[in-house]
Amino acid sequence: MKIVYVKDYDALSEAGASFLLEQIKKKPSLTMGLATGGTPKGTYEKLINKSKKEKVSFEQVRTFNLDEYVGLSKEDPNSYHQYMNDMLFNHIDIKSTHTFIPNGEASSIEAECQDYEQRIKAAGGIDIQLLGIGNNGHIGFNEPGTNFSETTHMIELADATREANARYFNTKEDVPKQAITMGIASIMAAKEILLLISGKDKQHAFSMLLEDGIDEAFPASILKEHPHVTVIVDQEAAGQYF
Ligand code: F6R
Repeated sequence: MKIVYVKDYDALSEAGASFLLEQIKKKPSLTMGLATGGTPKGTYEKLINKSKKEKVSFEQVRTFNLDEYVGLSKEDPNSYHQYMNDMLFNHIDIKSTHTFIPNGEASSIEAECQDYEQRIKAAGGIDIQLLGIGNNGHIGFNEPGTNFSETTHMIELADATREANARYFNTKEDVPKQAITMGIASIMAAKEILLLISGKDKQHAFSMLLEDGIDEAFPASILKEHPHVTVIVDQEAAGQYF
């Protein structure tokens, strides 16, 4: 794991956006794995601005999102479909037929999960996977205890995760209890991974990443086995390691 320490959230977003933009410049038909949540918002904003300034097109880029809540419609303001439209897709020249997010309203969630894996394979696999990390070490919505061999599947969200995400909903009760997520095996199949870690709340998660050992109890620990992982961490999240 290559670790890049930066001063604050703004610098993290700058570094994240530059990293992704360079990849698109090198390979205009890049297949990107994307994350939602609070952490990548700044990266998306800067990626939009930088791509406009440097006239980099997303026309040939394909994207696959990590996850989506089960039961939320694509139009629901809290769906990750909506998040991606608002944060990125509506502001760049990507083709809507090139953006993929699991369908949380599919009549068969199992068939949707299998199809999603097939779609990733048909696109030639993910070139660069963007990740955030949960306080409990989850990546995607792979909660502690998830089998490392899982591909895209449906999960029950951990209480801690519903608590953390309640800030976007009216009440915690409104946070869906299930989600579809790319599995650890799907994430590990990406050719390259970029993990963004920001803010005091993530200090524990970051320190766990630096410790020895790989354990399903801390899903992100598997990233130590991937040959091409870059972690960008800000001072608040790095704490004593900064
Ligand atoms: C989002 C995702 C999650 C988040 C994680 C951190 O698509 O898969 O793993 O990356 O929950 O969320 P934030 O960035 O809101 O702290």
